Amino acid sequence: TDEPLVLGIETSCDETGVGIVRGTTLLADALASSVDLHARFGGVVPEVASRAHLEAMVPTMQRALDEAGVTLADVDAIAVTSGPGLAGALLVGVAAAKGYAVAAEKPIYGVNHLAAHVAVDTLEHGPLPEPAIALLVSGGHSSLLLVDDLATGVTPLGSTIDDAAGEAFDKVARLLGMPFPGGPPIDRAARDGQATIAFPRGLTAAKDQAAHRFDFSFSGLKTAVARWVEARERAGEPVPVNDVAASFQDAVCDVLTAKAIDACRQHGVDTLVIGGGVAANSRLRVLAEERAAKVGIRVRVPRPKLCTDNGAMVAALGSHLVAAGVRPSRLDLPADSAMPL
Ligand code: KG4
Ligand code: ZN
Repeated sequence: TDEPLVLGIETSCDETGVGIVRGTTLLADALASSVDLHARFGGVVPEVASRAHLEAMVPTMQRALDEAGVTLADVDAIAVTSGPGLAGALLVGVAAAKGYAVAAEKPIYGVNHLAAHVAVDTLEHGPLPEPAIALLVSGGHSSLLLVDDLATGVTPLGSTIDDAAGEAFDKVARLLGMPFPGGPPIDRAARDGQATIAFPRGLTAAKDQAAHRFDFSFSGLKTAVARWVEARERAGEPVPVNDVAASFQDAVCDVLTAKAIDACRQHGVDTLVIGGGVAANSRLRVLAEERAAKVGIRVRVPRPKLCTDNGAMVAALGSHLVAAGVRPSRLDLPADSAMPL
């Protein structure tokens, strides 16, 4: 085969990922997570994450190469997340990628983490129809993107004005006494609950249509959940944890799916891609599918393991850039914590 063999390195947050793809075929996806080290702090501690990346980098690289049955010499290009993300964490991946690129004389591609969350879907569902709308929901970002061209034309339509969707899951889980990260335990608890509590839907009022049509806000929702729980406790009544989880989850998924479909319709787009850790949410997947089907929109969501941060997503975007004939980055490419699309 003459499809490019591309290796991708991801270190923007707390997952050290090395993925290897040939074209759009996934060959390896090695991951080391420092999530357990952050659990007792209730969120990712940047300094701890950077150190963990440094320790995990070489072994994770070796595991990916073994899994794919290739050596660094076989690789055609090395892609690395150069932003956005935690500055110190990004630096570890970028420095490692440069080292490997120099040692093995390979071209290097610095890629955008958000675009990589979209690109990973090509490994699962093949080439992405363009234009498409992407809904990216994770612990660090919540954005709606118009994807005219995955290689060069990704335009943000809106994003959260306060907390990211995953951050809201993490904070609400914490106040319900659930472990970090909070998405999975809330998802599980919600299955045994009823969404009977009417929590607020941020930025969906008529007055928000003009300035915030495609933006999100989840901090008011988090506060509303906290007040509701406090009121119960003050009254000496038990907190129906499963119902609170289901109601909170419904409020988040309602807004995310409504705005994503509104974006598709406004731009005349019939493909919606969902990515990021929150895309693993079972309610979000069902609701998006249900609502999109009604208006003739196709939903593409990769399997949960590819939704959360990983190296395969970086390799997928790198592979797409190579195939599109995009020039490699310079060897002095920076790590850019606030990298725009
Ligand atoms: O994409 P990701 O792994 O890392 C970031 O770039 O942030 O996303 C992590 C986020 C966490 O906030 C976690 O609570 C959330 O994704 N998450 C979920 C689920 N699984 C992970 N949120 C809701 N439901 C889930 N099943
Ligand atoms: Zn991410």
